[in-house]
Amino acid sequence: MPSGLVGVGVGPGAPDLLTVRALTACRTADRVFSPTMAMDVEGRAESVLRGADPGVEIERLVFAIRRDEQARAEAHAKAAARVASCLDDGERVAFITLGDPNIYSTFHHLAAAVRHRRPETEVTTVPGIMAFQDVVARTGTIATDGLERLVIVSAVDGADAIIAPLQDAGAAIVIYKGGRHLPEIRQHLERAGRLEDAVFGEMIGLPEERVGAVTDFADQPAAYLATVMVPPKRSA
Ligand SMILES: C[S@@+](CC[C@H](N)C(=O)[O-])C[C@H]1O[C@@H](n2cnc3c(N)ncnc32)[C@H](O)[C@@H]1O
Repeated sequence: MPSGLVGVGVGPGAPDLLTVRALTACRTADRVFSPTMAMDVEGRAESVLRGADPGVEIERLVFAIRRDEQARAEAHAKAAARVASCLDDGERVAFITLGDPNIYSTFHHLAAAVRHRRPETEVTTVPGIMAFQDVVARTGTIATDGLERLVIVSAVDGADAIIAPLQDAGAAIVIYKGGRHLPEIRQHLERAGRLEDAVFGEMIGLPEERVGAVTDFADQPAAYLATVMVPPKRSA
């Protein structure tokens, strides 16, 4: 197989939600990298792939995911240098990422930094099942139907990010990265009359998971890996 960089989505957490194509991409790569916060910490994507196939060798790349822009840029540059050196050696390199690699993922930052060094690098992706899909499946929620719309929002900077999307009663709203603002998200949903059907999944597919109605969990902030799904307002 030719050298290149492939971003592989491993799904939200359960090893059996990793697709056959994703597993094949990892098994056939010369090298599989996974993001982590520190070299001695197993990242979430790594634990998913290990659960699906403990035989795949995985090398960790440290990413500073938090808000220190300089630390983040330095980490990306260092990771890109390591990946580029493997590509220079003619390797086919896979980089695993939670969910889908094209949705709020570290992968495109890494790919851009690699291409900056090696513009000729062929970059491809393997789609992954997204966290919200598992949340709706596990809670028996119909996300969209007919002419309804689907909006994905990042609430990393606060719950106010959902105010405008909530105006559209015919849109389902997926709220990512809003775990620490969960009580405020609940207040906005209540004000908009959309709390009742809203569902929640935290660490879904992982040993610590909590899944159910938003009303059962929203008295406290939740973890970073938490997703809220608000179905469209439907007449009975
Ligand atoms: C950086 S984004 C990654 C999204 C991922 N690429 C996807 O396609 O689902 C991280 C956000 O995805 C959601 N997420 C990812 N994995 C999750 C999980 N196992 N349980 C609940 N939410 C999850 C959370 O909202 C989290 O804040």
